[in-house]
Parts: sequence; C-alpha cells; structure tokens
Amino acid sequence: MAPRDFASEIANGYSFEEPSLLLGAPLRDGAVAASARVRVPLSMLNRHGLIAGATGTGKTKTLQVLAEQLSEAGVPVFLADVKGDLSGLAAPGTADPKVVKRAESVGVPMAPAACPVEFLSLTGSRGIPVRATISSFGPLLLARAMGLNETQQAALAICFRYCDDKGLLLLDLSDLRAVLLHLTGPAAEELRPYGGLAKATAGVLLRHVTELEQQGGRDFFGEPEFEVEDLLRTDASGKGIVSILELADMQDRPDLYSTFLMWLLASLYRDLPEVGDVAKPKLVFFFDEAHLLFDEASKEFGEHIEQVVRLIRSKGVGVTFVTHSPRDVPADVLAQLGNRVQHALRAFTPADEKALRAAANTFPRSEFYDIPETLKTLGVGEAIVTVLSPRGTPTPVVATLLPPPMSRMGPATPEEIEGIVQKSPLHAEYATAVDRESAREELEGAASPGPRAAGTGASKEPRGAASNEDDDEEPTLGEKLGKALESPAGKTLQRELVRGLFGVLGLRTAVRRRRRRSIF
Ligand SMILES: Nc1ncnc2c1ncn2[C@@H]1O[C@H](COP(=O)(O)OP(=O)(O)OP(=O)(O)O)[C@@H](O)[C@H]1O
Ligand SMILES: [Mg+2]
Repeated sequence: MAPRDFASEIANGYSFEEPSLLLGAPLRDGAVAASARVRVPLSMLNRHGLIAGATGTGKTKTLQVLAEQLSEAGVPVFLADVKGDLSGLAAPGTADPKVVKRAESVGVPMAPAACPVEFLSLTGSRGIPVRATISSFGPLLLARAMGLNETQQAALAICFRYCDDKGLLLLDLSDLRAVLLHLTGPAAEELRPYGGLAKATAGVLLRHVTELEQQGGRDFFGEPEFEVEDLLRTDASGKGIVSILELADMQDRPDLYSTFLMWLLASLYRDLPEVGDVAKPKLVFFFDEAHLLFDEASKEFGEHIEQVVRLIRSKGVGVTFVTHSPRDVPADVLAQLGNRVQHALRAFTPADEKALRAAANTFPRSEFYDIPETLKTLGVGEAIVTVLSPRGTPTPVVATLLPPPMSRMGPATPEEIEGIVQKSPLHAEYATAVDRESAREELEGAASPGPRAAGTGASKEPRGAASNEDDDEEPTLGEKLGKALESPAGKTLQRELVRGLFGVLGLRTAVRRRRRRSIF
C-alpha cells in the first residue's frame, strides 16, 4: 500500500468538522504523515475511553494533554493524581528543544500555559479536604473500603438497616463504632428481627473501623460532605476547572480512594439531570491506576461499576480509565469504552506476549498495521488510537505521535499547591470539619441540639442543612439529612429515601429517580 493511500485514508477517517481534541499526527514506518491529524470529537467523550500502556510509555502525559485541551474548550475535568505527577497542570511547561521539536512534528506551536486548577485531598494535607458521610457511602462502598468479605458486608448492611429504622445518623466512623458497640451490648435483642449480629463479626468490623480511621478515614468520613456540583465549574474566562484529587499521600489505601471515586461518580449520576447526547461533555472524569478499582472486586461491586459507567453517559459525563493493560478492565466495562489510546506494551515473557495479543485483539482490524508488532515498537508518547467518529462509528486504527503538554511535565511545588488551595473559593466551604449530633452522641445520651464545631472550636452549619429552602432543585444529601433532623416524624422515611437513592448505585436508583421526575 502506498504511503499516500495511508495518509488520505487517515485524513478521511478523521476529517470531521465539529469541535475536537487533537491526539496527534499519524505515524507509519517511523515517519510522521504531516498532512493528516488524529482527533477525537468533543461530542463523543461521554462515550468513555481507555488509555493503556506499559510503565513509562506516556499514559499520564496523554491524560495531561487531554485535560488541558478539555479545559481550554470549557469542559471541567476531574482527575485522580495517584503519583503526584499531574499537579504540574497548574503551572506552565518549559519550551525545551525536545518538546518544541515534538510540537512541531505534530503541527502545533509550543505555547507553555497553565490550567485553572483546584486541588482536592482526602486527608486535607495537599488540597481542599473532601469528605463524605458514612451514611451516603452506603454499606457496599464502605465494605469495599474496609476490605470486608461477604459475611461481614452483610453484617454491615444490617447495621445500616437498623440505623435507618431507628433514625440514627451515621456521619463518621465514630458513629459506626458506637452503633456496633450498641448492637453487641444493650441492643443485641433489638437486632434479632434483622437476623442478629454475631459478636465475633462485630469484633472484626470494629477492628476494620479502627484500621480505616488510622489510615485516613478519620479525616475523610464526616461533614461537610463534598458536593459534586463543585466539580462542574468554569473560570472567569470560560475555561473548565481541572479538579485534581491529590492521592500521593494515600498510596497505601487504594481501596479508600477507589471507592471514593465510585462515590463521586454515583453522586454525579444522582445529582445531574438527564441530557442525552451533548455537543460537549459536562465533565470528563479520568480514573488513573484504574486497576485498583477492579482488583479483587466482588461480583456485586463489579456489576455496580458497570452500571454506573453505563448510566452516567446520559448525564453528559465521560469516564476515561488509565491503566497498564485493557485486561485490567472487566469485559463488560471495556466494551463501553469507545475511545482508545493504547501506548506501547512490552513482551518479555510468554505471558506478556499473550497479554499483548489480547490487547491487540481489542482493536478493529487495520490494513496498515500489524497491531501486535506496532505495540511492541511504539516510542514514548506514541500510541495506537481508535476513537468514535461523530456518527458513533470507530475511526481507522492509527499509530499516533502525541503532542507535548503545554503545562509542566512534573509536579507543582508544595508552595504552588498551597497558594492555589488558599485562594480557592472552596476553602471556606470545606476546610473545617463539622461534627454535629449523630448516632454516637445519641447513643451515648450526651446529645445537645444543633450542630457544633469539632476540636478547633470553629463552627460552620453544613451547607445542605442551611440552604434547603433556597431553591426548588432536588435537595442534596446534606439537605435531606438536615430536614430529617428537623422533623423527627419524617426521620426514618427521609433516611430510607436517601439510602434508596444512594446506598444502591445501580438500576434501582435510576428507576426511583425517573419516577420522581415524571411526577414534576
Ligand atoms: N506526549 C509527550 N510529550 C513529551 N514527553 C512525553 C510525552 N509522553 C511521555 N513523555 C515522556 O515520557 C515520560 C514518562 O511518561 P508518563 O509519566 O506519562 O508515563 P506513564 O505511562 O504514565 O508511566 P507510569 O506507568 O510509570 O505512570 C515523561 O516524563 C516524559 O518525559
Ligand atoms: Mg503514569
């Protein structure tokens, strides 16, 4: 096949007019086909994606390049920064000769620029602290975060059920501990109708609670709860805000942050209106080191992930998984990932070779490339690409030289991060923890009415509880719980509702919401 045919085939396959992100220039036999460009339409980014490849092949830089262009196009981005190397998005890059040359090869000017960035953190050490309540996490995600087996998970679900029925508010881990102690002590009889809770199982659960507390759960679980609409912002110039969840301090707790990311997605699903097909996504969500989400996931948990990923698309949210091999992602999730950027894979062992062939088989056939061979020989910052065209059909498979990021290829300094955190409008909202009356106080009989401040003495009314009369939008979780507190009669009912909406991440949620919507 003559090279001209290749260039025109690729140019045709990626010739769409509508707004798109640049993925790079086509590569064949070591040469760049300068006349064609490889792009992905903005309207197809809610059809989800996968960035895969061996260590050091350029996955994170690809993510950075996409995040920058999304922000520029006014699309907010959320990304989990596991190694701390994405914080550089907040600072301009440097135009050293190597990156200038790469930019030229791809046909873009090297114009160093920073993105508008918000830093978030589960521990509060390197970003705005984000928190969720035990109640909204629900038993399934919590069981995953605590590494429980099925029996223990069932026992935890019973505790949630009991708290719902008794109107006990589970906000933080101390509430959960108080409930577990209560249920193995004074209230053991009350639990009989639920199936009971074996002392040994409760003991194991208590141990897990302590462990989780020591490993970041104490900071993370509680209020004020993070509201996902804060991820959907643009700056004054219309650029999408890039929210970076800094996880370098959480590397030993992958189960906590991976469940938190699922909680975010499920909350987005719950809170965002149905939008169908959109010209550009409302938010693009990058899930780096995505294998951590799927490793040892129970069947039930896996099914929930699959459902959330499938359903979130109609809310205008795109999800891109970043991981080493497509085999890290379960087949029913992989089948939903229409946009693929596959960096090089190594084939040192027969097992590697097998994995490489399996990865190659997830691509459409190509008359221009021997895909397994190409995967072995791609250089750093090069990838095999196929995406969805605006018509929803796969574009031709093409080896692609990616552009360099315009922001810094390396971490932001702690001072740079702190400066951004201090200036953030979210700081006043989330910086201080709030410990209002909940299960622990109620069970200890030491309850005093109204919210009160934790440790430091600073106090803030939870946003949800304070603002529930302000608008006619569906109340947030905080508002629902706030209302439940104000109205003892509606307490149990309200909690039941919250659990139905959110404790279950999947279809039941969707059915309930649709019914609610059709009424109004
Ligand atoms: N698009 C690019 N432009 C310029 N340099 C790049 C590009 N992609 C990768 N590189 C170079 O390759 C290095 C490794 O890239 P990157 O950190 O993205 O790899 P990775 O696949 O995420 O690795 P890991 O699996 O270890 O996280 C970068 O530090 C950078 O020097
Ligand atoms: Mg990386």
